[in-house]
Amino acid sequence: MKTVADYIRTIPDFPEPGVMFRDITTILQDAEGLHLAVDGLREALRGVDYDLVVGPESRGFIFGVPLAYAEYKPFIPIRKQGKLPAETISETYELEYGHATIEIHKDAIKPGQRVVIVDDLIATGGTTEAMVRLIEKLGGEVVKMLFVIELKGLHGREKLKGYPVFSLVSYE
Ligand code: PRP
Ligand code: ADE
Repeated sequence: MKTVADYIRTIPDFPEPGVMFRDITTILQDAEGLHLAVDGLREALRGVDYDLVVGPESRGFIFGVPLAYAEYKPFIPIRKQGKLPAETISETYELEYGHATIEIHKDAIKPGQRVVIVDDLIATGGTTEAMVRLIEKLGGEVVKMLFVIELKGLHGREKLKGYPVFSLVSYE
């Protein structure tokens, strides 16, 4: 029987030399792959008490929305700078390649709400760390972090000490 790992394609030197790009489109283009990924993330939420799912543009939306839909929870998008129309707060962070600013609507999370973060992949953990800052600024509590893929060699998990990190597939 296949696992999610079987559906991930690796592209060397994309988007720049030295990066081993873990491509999730090959998960999505197969119905079984998509189900294995979303159902695997759902499984990791068993017994977790939470109010909403938060995911970042753009690949975080791909897994976050079907997960929230299946679990009957709201989904809160975190977007790159300048895309959200109402009042926002923002955070800037470093990526494995480059840097970025992300934003969340100020009214998207109420103080005390319990939040699950979902993304396709954790590399350096910079995106997730910035998401945590946004969520906590609004008074939310991050109770679980879910990733389809973890790039262990980039030590994202260490940046997120104290938060429960779960990934379906990890690479050294
Ligand atoms: C990728 C990926 C994660 C992030 C992981 O997103 O989807 O969100 O990088 O890297 P980190 O752990 O080092 O922060 P990217 O910003 O490339 O945007 P995309 O989803 O729109 O491709
Ligand atoms: N985002 C950051 N690093 C990545 C990688 N190596 N593969 C896919 N997405 C990424």
